[in-house]
Amino acid sequence: MKVLLLREQEIKPLLEVNEVSEAVEQAFREKGKGMVQMPPKTYLYYDKYNGDLRVMPAYIESMDVSAVKVVNVHPDNRAFDLPTVMAIIILIDPKTGAPQAIMDGTEITAMRTGAAAGVATKYLSRRDAGRLGIVGAGAQGSKQLDFIVNVRNIVEVKVYDVREEAKANFIQKARQKYPELRVVAAESVEEAVRNQDIICTVTPSRKPIVMNEWVDDGIHINAIGADAPGKEELDPAILKRAMIIVDDWEQALHSGEINVPVSKGLITRGDIHGELGEVIVGKKRGRAADKEITVFDSTGLAIQDATVAKLVYKKALEEGVGSWFEFLTLNRSIPHP
Ligand SMILES: NC(=O)c1ccc[n+]([C@@H]2O[C@H](COP(=O)([O-])OP(=O)(O)OC[C@H]3O[C@@H](n4cnc5c(N)ncnc54)[C@H](O)[C@@H]3O)[C@@H](O)[C@H]2O)c1
Repeated sequence: MKVLLLREQEIKPLLEVNEVSEAVEQAFREKGKGMVQMPPKTYLYYDKYNGDLRVMPAYIESMDVSAVKVVNVHPDNRAFDLPTVMAIIILIDPKTGAPQAIMDGTEITAMRTGAAAGVATKYLSRRDAGRLGIVGAGAQGSKQLDFIVNVRNIVEVKVYDVREEAKANFIQKARQKYPELRVVAAESVEEAVRNQDIICTVTPSRKPIVMNEWVDDGIHINAIGADAPGKEELDPAILKRAMIIVDDWEQALHSGEINVPVSKGLITRGDIHGELGEVIVGKKRGRAADKEITVFDSTGLAIQDATVAKLVYKKALEEGVGSWFEFLTLNRSIPHP
């Protein structure tokens, strides 16, 4: 029984912004229809190392897609010259339960996280949004830019990071990739956030770093960084003013941007408008007015990983990329499509 092994360097050229966006939007659409199986992430907490590990299974029946991702978050990994987030994805054939592929999930995670923000921005931000602020210029931060310029006509992006090196690196790459875009360094979170149409917060912060008084009416916020209990990036007063859309109820209450304010009783379930998938399929309204503030609370869903992993697998087969490994020795082979 042969399984396709795919390295990060083989996967990167297979991932295109438009295709990943489509795959992720389709995953959210199926969730909006109530057609996915996705138990909430299971966490292990490596508290003494300031890290955690999550296991994320999913099955999207209509797409015949199933996968399990194992992913960590260790914000101090720079000291070991390792990324904060690393992942492995096992793609499963739902028909037999056999593994089809085992692939690096690090790039897929960053792409599908950017794609979720892109989809949310498409459905929730003002159509004329042109100014973007990014707080946190790490691995996820740069992908936010790629997927947001894909859905809105962004003319200026301001970026802030506590590390000058991360900020400079982001700016250099963004200017090279998008020469028509004005890419500006912000000297504080406040400067990155004030007078923006869209902001993305992409840090591992455990206390609010974006204050209510800096946020104008009409803004759309992608709150990406908070994806474990105790993490938060936004002043809860912003959430009180905003229409809040989560990616998944259970995960958001447990570990999303709303987890701390809900546990403190600052906001309640009733303050949450619904899930992104529900907006996509029209079960819930999207932005109602130019002055409305919208917040997308992203925890990251296993269905995002599964659809993108399937896309990678299909393209790898088409292009003959990857290497085959026989885990289980059978006297007959299992066909790959
Ligand atoms: N929602 C999702 O689907 C999803 C997916 C992946 C990662 N994440 C989360 O996103 C966060 C970032 O992940 P990453 O892989 O980009 O990590 P990273 O370490 O590559 O980047 C994080 C950046 O944030 C900066 N930073 C830290 N504190 C800051 C602050 N107070 N103000 C400004 N900048 C600050 C760091 O210097 C770093 O450059 C993590 O919390 C991770 O758990 C969420």
